[in-house]
Amino acid sequence: MAPLKVTKICCLGAGYVGGPTCAVVALKCPHIKVTIVDFNQARIDAWNSPDYNLPIYEPGLEDVVRQARGRNLFFSTNVDQAILEAELIFVSVNTPTKKSGVGAGFAADLNYVELATRQIARVSTSSKIVVEKSTVPCRTAESMRTILEANSKPGCRFDILSNPEFLAEGTAIQDLFAPDRVLIGSLQTPEGKSACESLVEVYNNWVPKQKIFTVGLWSSELSKLAANAMLAQRISSINALSAICEATGANIDEVSNAVGMDSRVGPKFLRASVGFGGSCFQKDILNLVYLSESLHLPEVAAYWRQVVEMNDYQKRRFSKRVVDTLFNTITGKRIAVLGFAFKADTGDTRESAAITLIRDFQAERARISIYDPKVEESQIWQDLQEASPTVPLVDIQKNVTITHSVLEATRDVEAVIIATEWREFKLIDWHAVYAQMSKPAFLFDGRLLVNPDELRQIGFRVSVIGRGETL
Ligand code: UDX
Ligand code: ADP
Repeated sequence: MAPLKVTKICCLGAGYVGGPTCAVVALKCPHIKVTIVDFNQARIDAWNSPDYNLPIYEPGLEDVVRQARGRNLFFSTNVDQAILEAELIFVSVNTPTKKSGVGAGFAADLNYVELATRQIARVSTSSKIVVEKSTVPCRTAESMRTILEANSKPGCRFDILSNPEFLAEGTAIQDLFAPDRVLIGSLQTPEGKSACESLVEVYNNWVPKQKIFTVGLWSSELSKLAANAMLAQRISSINALSAICEATGANIDEVSNAVGMDSRVGPKFLRASVGFGGSCFQKDILNLVYLSESLHLPEVAAYWRQVVEMNDYQKRRFSKRVVDTLFNTITGKRIAVLGFAFKADTGDTRESAAITLIRDFQAERARISIYDPKVEESQIWQDLQEASPTVPLVDIQKNVTITHSVLEATRDVEAVIIATEWREFKLIDWHAVYAQMSKPAFLFDGRLLVNPDELRQIGFRVSVIGRGETL
């Protein structure tokens, strides 16, 4: 059967995944009408804002939206209308880790996916290709198919595809323009393969065919979890080695360069840090742990769980190093935390290591000043409140200040912590910072960002992750 030529696409969910992905689809496919819908009115208003004050900060995104919005890219809260019109629907709704019930703390909460699926079944009056884009546990497509088939109207066919997104925040537009690969999973039936071909044609407007990899549905779902688990595992491996470096006097940068020069290993994702964050790594690994346990594979579950445990250990180890170095107490001491986002070039704070560090410093009753070039003040308060749910916000605010520059954050402090690798922090005038700090002035680099020798010459006592030099 000839594959359907897609002319109208709807995307359910205008978040970090759905927004940038479908904005790029619209830009690259001017002949396709793309409508991104969300029931969050404020989010849609921001996407539609006349001055392009978009709800997500992503380099290059504004330019994409400027070119396509109003031409063939639309943002709306009218979910039903968009579903009704579309031939192909991306489901890009949130799939957070479950907070309660079976699998709490591990399994993905599929409530939003299920509600979106039921909505598609209820509203549709014609056949649709439904594309699972949110990261979901294996075999979610099967559940979606069951729901759609049980609720479809006569003459409506639903073909399910899995098309996981591999974009990283901060480089989303670049990743979407030139992806390493586009992965599409489908049932290996004639109908499934034909639906797959329709989506291949959409991507082929800008992605070469040899980079579009078509596989079975379950392989596609598992590949997304596997890719994130293996990336996170590399970071936990290098972070585990950073602890050995600190204990022995070796240098983690040198070790990771030496290891990464082996072409079988490769140099990327071997940068030691205060711990990985972001909405995907931990969530996807815990998903894999849950899946392994459900499949009665406890050894496999324990193997992957250790990647997250090593990450927690890295964060704990870093806070402890700060306390130990500051003469075993930070009670009442002033500490500046530079960076709150989980990595540079994003305003996203989900699972950011900075949140855990600040919570630990609060528990020691330190006085903390925070500076991040991108994260909104309200987001910082919300994250700190969630990290210490039993402490009233007013009490948190007694010991934490949010500032608007590096110099404001570091005034009169005893220690500076670099928690996010913002480019701006590479350009800090450390002489000026040193001049206004209490002495001895300590600096803890959790991101391998500074040149420790230069800072020591200024007078700082520098402690860098993965370096064992004495202060
Ligand atoms: C990740 C995957 O890279 C992406 O393919 C997937 O679609 C979503 O999850 P993202 O969470 O945006 O993307 O960020 P990423 O760049 O992978 O970084 C994740 C965390 O690891 C960050 O906290 C980062 O600072 C940390 N990291 C990364 C390291 O500590 N060391 C490294 O070498 C690389
Ligand atoms: P992600 O990082 O996976 O993109 P986000 O939380 O940033 O996740 O975005 C998911 C978005 O999906 C949210 O804005 C949420 O309001 C939206 N959403 C959830 N369910 C539906 C639905 N049934 N229809 C439309 N939008 C939905």
